[in-house]
Amino acid sequence: MSLELCHLIDLPQIPDARGNLTFVEGRRHVPFEIQRVFYIYDVPCGGARGGHALKTCHQVLIAVAGSLDVIVKDDRGGQRRFQLDSPRRGLHLPPRIWREMENFSAGSVCLVLASTPFEEADYYRSYADYCLAEKATP
Ligand code: TYD
Repeated sequence: MSLELCHLIDLPQIPDARGNLTFVEGRRHVPFEIQRVFYIYDVPCGGARGGHALKTCHQVLIAVAGSLDVIVKDDRGGQRRFQLDSPRRGLHLPPRIWREMENFSAGSVCLVLASTPFEEADYYRSYADYCLAEKATP
């Protein structure tokens, strides 16, 4: 899948002297129905997450606290790096994009909105398997 399809989404913010509020509605702010939410936190210093691609699931990643880097790769040597550092910006990753996450700041929390329930069979856990599958897909 083309890395050009990975893009940042500006989310709404309701500014308030009591503290800001951001909300996300499926099919309005993200281009899919939200079927699952999970979050990654307490990542040790220097730790990395991800290291997989998904066959059908769309995801939007949001650094709701702190910051992290998301590296996306295709099967042809292409690579892009996104720094997520704002709770009002999401990164949409369509299916069939290899992703790695690193440089988590202390106390960071990465919220993920997903278009499907969890299913292990939807994962490519090996970059070699992902590349083989991409090359076999028209
Ligand atoms: P994984 O997707 O590998 O995490 P990361 O991309 O952050 O490295 O998931 C880690 C483990 O958690 C794995 O055993 C699958 C399980 N898991 C669920 O049970 N449900 C979920 O929604 C997710 C995302 C993971």
